[in-house]
Order: sequence, then structure tokens, then C-alpha cells
Amino acid sequence: MNLKKQVGFQAAELVRDGQVIGLGTGSTTHYFIERLGEKIKEEEMEILGVPTSYQSLFLARDSGITVTTLDEHAVDLAVDGADEVDPQLNLIKGGGAAHTLEKIVDSSAEKFIVVVDDSKMVDKLGAFPVPVEVIPPAYRVVTEKLDYIGGKPWLRMAEKKDGPVITDNGNFVVDIQFPKISKPEVLEMELNTIPGVVENGIFTGIVDEVMVGTPEGLKILK
Ligand code: A5P
Repeated sequence: MNLKKQVGFQAAELVRDGQVIGLGTGSTTHYFIERLGEKIKEEEMEILGVPTSYQSLFLARDSGITVTTLDEHAVDLAVDGADEVDPQLNLIKGGGAAHTLEKIVDSSAEKFIVVVDDSKMVDKLGAFPVPVEVIPPAYRVVTEKLDYIGGKPWLRMAEKKDGPVITDNGNFVVDIQFPKISKPEVLEMELNTIPGVVENGIFTGIVDEVMVGTPEGLKILK
């Protein structure tokens, strides 16, 4: 079994009957959601899912998980993937352009667990570019300000569609390559103060636990 599948399946075992679960986006949470769907049938559990993207919404429905919204229910446990995780449990997310709703759902949860394979663990964030969701009319001015902050920004282009990626919220994604990020909590705030930026993919101070799939077995970081 591949490591993403292993860790996604193990996270599904943490879900308890009656809980409201934040359903992350990406290939690792794909396994989590599929397994959760099987588990609630096997054990006749009643849970509700709060999706973080169209991907997780459609997968939840296909897996037999009843979905709800943050308006209607508070999230007990959110399970989500990451593109990078540092030793302080700060993250870069947004490789799939879903980081805005992911951050809203994940940070609202009573408990937030990250599921990754060991390739995602880094000493310092920054090898992966930081995704920034930008309102389209603000693209030029935001990019100029991002240049000024010291990163190298570019507009994320779509595959199988001409032109840029359009997020689930109808916006652009600008990816920025920084040299190694020494103060992620400062950069996270700084990026979000630029008018036109909706949200960026640095997540600091919200992770309770990271489940890491390794060839030697599961590691838990708290
Ligand atoms: C979605 O935008 C991302 O934040 C994903 O959660 C992240 O890229 C992890 O994806 P994988 O589990 O596919 O590596």
C-alpha cells in the first residue's frame, strides 16, 4: 500500500460516531474520504462532512458521506494534506489551489490533523512555492507588491484549459518562490495584508497533529 493511502486510511480510524469532519483536498485526503465512506457503512456511523473544495464535495457524495456547511455545523475534526511541513508544524498548502477554504475549515476545527507521506517533511518551508489566491482585477498590482516583498511570483496556468487556473472561488492563483522562509508566521500575515489577496497557502499555529506515513510505519508529530 502506498504511504499516502496508508496514512489516509489510518486517519479514518480516528473518526467517531456523531462527529462533523472537515474533509481536506488532494490525493492523500482522497484516500481518507474514501475509507471514511466505507467505515461509516460498515459501522453504521452517522457523521457529517464539511468539504474544502469541489473535489472533496464530489468525492464525499460519491462515498456516501452526508455533507454540510460551516454555516450549519461546527467542525469537530478536520483532516487535510499538505505540500510541506516544518518541525514547528507550519505548512505550505495550495498545490491544488484549494487553500482558502481549507484554511477556513481547518482553522475552525476543534482538532486539525495533517496527513502526509514523509516526502513532505522539510527543515524550513520554502522549496515549494507559496500559493496566493488573488482577485483577478488585482492581479497586476498584487504581483508588483509581491515582487517587492522579495519573492518571484508567477501566475498559475491551467492544464486542459487555455489561460490561468481559476479557483473554486473564481479567482487566480499566483505562486511565489521565496528563498527559505525563516519566519512563516510573519510572511503569512504580510501576504494577507496586500489588497486583492484573498488568502495564502502558509498555515501557521493551527495544526494539532501531523500523521506521517514512512516506510517504517506511521509517525505522529505534535
Ligand atoms: C490543495 O490545495 C492542497 O492544499 C493539498 O491539500 C495539498 O497540496 C496536499 O495534496 P496531496 O495530498 O495531493 O499531496
